[in-house]
Amino acid sequence: MTDSQAPQAPGAARPEAPMARRRPATRRTGEAEPAGGPPRQTGQDWRTWPVYAAAELGFRNYWYPVQWSSQVGRKPVPVTVLGERIVLVRDSGKVHALQDRCPHRGVPLSLGRREFPGTLSCPYHGWTYNLGDGRLCAVITDGPNSPINGRVSVATYPVAERIGLIFVWIGDGTPHPVEADLPEELVDNSFAMGGRSDIRRGNWRFAAENGFDEGHAKYLHNTALWRLFKVMPTWNVTRVISEGKWLTRVQDQVHWEAEFPNVGKFSNKRWWKRMPLPDAPGKASKVNPVIGSMNLLGFVSIRLPGILRVAYPQFIHYEWYVPVDADHVRYVQIMVRFERGMQARLFQAKYLIAIRWLFHGQFTAQDAWMVDVMDAPPERLYRPDLSLTAWRRHVEDVAPTVQPATTGSTGAR
Ligand code: FES
Ligand SMILES: [Fe+2]
Repeated sequence: MTDSQAPQAPGAARPEAPMARRRPATRRTGEAEPAGGPPRQTGQDWRTWPVYAAAELGFRNYWYPVQWSSQVGRKPVPVTVLGERIVLVRDSGKVHALQDRCPHRGVPLSLGRREFPGTLSCPYHGWTYNLGDGRLCAVITDGPNSPINGRVSVATYPVAERIGLIFVWIGDGTPHPVEADLPEELVDNSFAMGGRSDIRRGNWRFAAENGFDEGHAKYLHNTALWRLFKVMPTWNVTRVISEGKWLTRVQDQVHWEAEFPNVGKFSNKRWWKRMPLPDAPGKASKVNPVIGSMNLLGFVSIRLPGILRVAYPQFIHYEWYVPVDADHVRYVQIMVRFERGMQARLFQAKYLIAIRWLFHGQFTAQDAWMVDVMDAPPERLYRPDLSLTAWRRHVEDVAPTVQPATTGSTGAR
């Protein structure tokens, strides 16, 4: 596996300050306004999916990618995952993750210093913690015989580094292998990749639903530069199938244009646009052998704890929706090509020159925009939303452990 140099620069959507939790406030439909009060929104709530509805901060007992490996060295790096504030630090080549709060007076340890090998010292009074087990191992301002030494500790988190990313286990007990939470094809094959990671506004569920949403791509993204030379359909008939850990959207019908009664014709066909690829990656005339062997019946798949896979005949795009807090999501996107040698290097150059900006930039910024401004429930679902309800039903069936809500803002980092 060749890791791209691309992982860098957080995207434009990263907020600098904690955001207030968004609540439905404005009315966007033409509903009648009740006399003597603000307009009421009507529609369905999420009572049908109680586990999902409760999972504002995601699910415990999974590995989550929280930072690029290249971004974590000796200097402590703060991250927030599922509402938990964590400090990452590398010592002798190994990354450690500790609770980012000194038990003494609550100062973030990510502001601390590295005074002794294998330790991190709080910047306020110099309480010093062992990176391996989180135990207080020296109290600089209380002398070598401090009675509190060894009697306090901070929580530590299991850490794994894979595919150029640091994964942290948020859960209880002994973690399962990190490979169980990676797409299988990324475990078994070598590949070249490029990627970016941004903190974006909006709850992680809106981001995940947007990823698997059947309805929007052909309309929202028909203005994206990434699709400038490809026709987008007008509407499709789709179903969702379940295979192992994945749900996949299968397209049964694709309608390139349509005549809408009393309104007119809608089409994205233009003289400069080519008709796009067939409706499943394996049906293309030229398919990468690894992607072909996956026997995918559709392009787009999703799985817990919030991983999207969009497979094209020659490469695959993945997205992780990692809950930060109730109103922010860490949006990790990577593009993978199962090649070695010259082909792999060519792909990485193409990623840096074009894909990073066109697809992982402008195209998915349109998604970020929608995830930020949407406001549901209540909601009035339509036929293509079967992709959303299939995903929610899947969550109810698996019934993962919901991360309990925290109070207050984490500062989204
Ligand atoms: S607050 Fe950390 S040592 Fe005092
Ligand atoms: Fe999209």
